[in-house]
Amino acid sequence: MKRFLTAALVASMGLFAAGSASAIDTYTAGEAANGIGSSRHNLGSLGEHITAAQTTEICIFCHTPHHTNTTNNLKPLWNRGTSAPSAFTAYGTTIGGTTINSSDIGSTSLACLSCHDGVTTFDNIVNAPGKNFAGTTQIGGNTVGAGADRGYSFWDAAVPGYVSDFMTSGRLNIGLNLSNDHPVSVTYNSSVASLRPTATVLSAIDLTAELAASAATYDNGNLASNLWAVKGYISNTATIADLLRSSKVECSSCHDPHFNNKSWNETDNAWAGAGITNLEAESNGLFLRRVGGNSGSGVCRTCHNK
Ligand code: HEC
Ligand code: HEC
Ligand code: HEC
Ligand code: HEC
Repeated sequence: MKRFLTAALVASMGLFAAGSASAIDTYTAGEAANGIGSSRHNLGSLGEHITAAQTTEICIFCHTPHHTNTTNNLKPLWNRGTSAPSAFTAYGTTIGGTTINSSDIGSTSLACLSCHDGVTTFDNIVNAPGKNFAGTTQIGGNTVGAGADRGYSFWDAAVPGYVSDFMTSGRLNIGLNLSNDHPVSVTYNSSVASLRPTATVLSAIDLTAELAASAATYDNGNLASNLWAVKGYISNTATIADLLRSSKVECSSCHDPHFNNKSWNETDNAWAGAGITNLEAESNGLFLRRVGGNSGSGVCRTCHNK
């Protein structure tokens, strides 16, 4: 009983601290980059944002232990139908002279785009929760593939009026046209675009150089420490190579879809709106891998020596 009371007290103090506007979480090396449960990437019924009523499972909307979709070399344990690479308009040719065609779109970016393409439904999963192995036709009798609807209905409890089964929000809908996005599936060639060598240790990059002296302590000093979430943990030894997938920049080079990164004060303070009651839960630091998010353009300046 005493233990319970102590735990409850600590928990309530934690909530109080998290609720104040200036409370930005800090992360230290070795900590897990977790928190997906309260993030926008929990689409199960225990989630806080866009949720499906029919399952409490969290991982199922992206991963399944068996019968995964390996089309286009999709990984890891991918449980979704995706748009075909040929459906995308790729970036084209960079100033550095690197060309990206739609056939180059890599599996990790296809994975993100299996929701953020604006056409594939959230419930387009290959293996349904529990015993319901889906195969190619399952819940609702639909076929796995872009645009197919598996029969789960979605709504967002927090934002009234959000009733769509697929990504419609302009902000979150990256779409099929990737020519207006930072190049993805682009080979990291450190001889162009001011890119640092791939062996560069992330935490050794001094992001405070040339900035005002206050940069050293700004936002918990994250520019000075430059810690990133790599392979599920906050790391002080990882290199730029660890951010790449098959030597390329993909969506997951900059974002970790599980990391409810609450270390970026600019997003924490910016979020407010109709129907939003839990301000802390609304912000995920945009799932950015870097502790401190993109403060001082730290994400950009980690790869680009500008
Ligand atoms: C919104 C989609 C999504 C959800 C939901 C999701 N994952 Fe992932 N997961 C991914 C993607 C994409 C990758 C590949 C990321 C990369 O390239 O680093 C990944 C990679 C992983 C990895 C290997 C790399 C790492 O960061 O550890 C593990 C382990 C993992 N997921 C476990 C889980 C578990 C367990 C759950 C449920 C609690 C879960 N994931 C929920 C999208 C998701
Ligand atoms: C299973 C579907 C699904 C997959 C796969 C998925 N997302 Fe999301 N993502 C969502 C939904 C749903 C939201 C929240 C939309 C909303 O609340 O309006 C979201 C929100 C986001 C946000 C905004 C977070 C915020 O706090 O505003 C980012 C950034 C993001 N996703 C990036 C990614 C990246 C990068 C990947 C791949 C590594 C990925 N997503 C994979 C469904 C998905
Ligand atoms: C080079 C790094 C990088 C790559 C690669 C990248 N992102 Fe992002 N993304 C960011 C940053 C930084 C932000 C926050 C931008 C800001 O501050 O406005 C962001 C924001 C977002 C948002 C919120 C959009 C907004 O303007 O509010 C979504 C959704 C998203 N990313 C999804 C993706 C997906 C899907 C991919 C792969 C197709 C991807 N990102 C690739 C760095 C990246
Ligand atoms: C993970 C490493 C990485 C990060 C982080 C990163 N970039 Fe890049 N960026 C690249 C690569 C690789 C290229 C392609 C260079 C080439 O081959 O021409 C590139 C190219 C560019 C280009 C040139 C595109 C062209 O058409 O020539 C711009 C501009 C750019 N990045 C801006 C940014 C900004 C802004 C950010 C932060 C939001 C950012 N980058 C973060 C790796 C990165």
